[in-house]
Amino acid sequence: METITSPTPPIPVHPGLPFVGNTLEYLRGPLPFLNRLQEQYGTNRIVRIALGGLTTILLLKPEETRYVLQENNRNYGRGRSFAVLRQFLGNGLLTSEGDFWRRQRRLAQPAFHRQKLAILAETMIDEAVAWGDRLQQTNRKDPVNVTSATIDATLRIVSRSLFGSVLTDRVDDLSNALASLNHLANNTLINPIRLPKWVPTPTQRAFRQATGTVDSLIHRIIQTRRASTESRDDLLDMLLRAEDEETGERMSDQQLRDEVVTLFIAGHETTATSMAWTLHLLANHPDVQARAKAEVDAVLAGRDRLTPEDLRSLTYLMQVIQESLRLYPPAWAMSRLSLGLDRLGEYAINSGEGILVSPYVLHHDPASWPDPERFDPDRFQPERVKERHPYAFLPFGGGPRLCIGNQFALMEMQVLLAVLLQRFTSKPTGRRIDVQPLITLRSKQAVTVFLS
Ligand code: HEM
Repeated sequence: METITSPTPPIPVHPGLPFVGNTLEYLRGPLPFLNRLQEQYGTNRIVRIALGGLTTILLLKPEETRYVLQENNRNYGRGRSFAVLRQFLGNGLLTSEGDFWRRQRRLAQPAFHRQKLAILAETMIDEAVAWGDRLQQTNRKDPVNVTSATIDATLRIVSRSLFGSVLTDRVDDLSNALASLNHLANNTLINPIRLPKWVPTPTQRAFRQATGTVDSLIHRIIQTRRASTESRDDLLDMLLRAEDEETGERMSDQQLRDEVVTLFIAGHETTATSMAWTLHLLANHPDVQARAKAEVDAVLAGRDRLTPEDLRSLTYLMQVIQESLRLYPPAWAMSRLSLGLDRLGEYAINSGEGILVSPYVLHHDPASWPDPERFDPDRFQPERVKERHPYAFLPFGGGPRLCIGNQFALMEMQVLLAVLLQRFTSKPTGRRIDVQPLITLRSKQAVTVFLS
């Protein structure tokens, strides 16, 4: 543990009201509030704020963020918000800590290696083509609700990637139960009133019912798989067969259940949210859309169907996705808790301090991103990327807890967008869209576009 001998300056405090601190200012508009803090305290590099009766240190610059997420990550555990998630996800990769997390990450990592993802790419392409077909059948005069259309696509992709195409009925039931668990998790996290779990509120009852369905379906699927000698190329099979190199151990049924639920929940809403924002941006920037479409047409060169090899050539499309993730990072804030006394830049950080890392704040810092609100995919040209601090852009977090599904998500978005650009032109509907920071950075109203 660090001992600090030289004097350290006090951490700047954003002034607030008695008892409520900065909560009201935050609630009036979380994102403008965060941008104001960057403006006011950026030169101080960190600032202490008080939300919901607890103080938190907000990191404003990439250097401090890298320190917490990577350089001294062992001193920064999962923050307070993870306790709520644990109720839903159990002890899976997102919520676990310490040696248990390290072992689980070692076991799960190979399932996300490049060669394994190439196999999943075919599943994604099948689903994207079917999605394009469904969209083509809708009436072109009506606006398309992109928010629900993208959830539909990412739910199917994550279900098929996890469980393959067999046991379809059970997988459909399971997808529905998991989707309602996800919905309940969102509602619980935004509800400021936390009653004990035994209080039989309608939400608690619905939660118990959804968990019961999820558990029994997953356990049945696992048992069937364990009894079978056939090998498949889905994530569940890779997790089932994963063996710890050091101990030779495999995951128990309970661990498998927690990892499957985690991957399912972490893996679809984030991607769907980002897809919806990307389609919103493309519809409103016809020049960018035309350039991305021209790239897709050139790479496909008259072929009907995309192949996994095509993805590497869709470089401008990848820049569009990155710029969309910059403006609207789905995981807009992540919490940490300092485990011991530490030195962060010139400041002393006490044990037990809450730390807030916000990709949103870093992605809108004019010091890293001139004219930050402007949508400009050319910011991600390789030579311009090299000029920036690597932690100026962190939609998937950083350090050892970097999102395990980052390549999966980027590939999925590329596939879905390529199919869409190949078939349609999207135009804005002119309806108002506000940003709403819940667990993910969603839009308050559904995103709609005209497809022609
Ligand atoms: C655009 C889509 C996505 C975004 C923006 C995103 C973002 C993130 C971020 C920021 C973290 C780090 C959280 C922290 O350090 O506190 C994370 C972790 C995680 N993500 Fe993603 N994610 C996305 C898609 C996915 C997908 C597709 C999967 C799985 C198929 C996935 C599975 C996970 C898991 C399991 C973790 C926990 C990793 C660990 O701590 O070892 N994510 N994600």
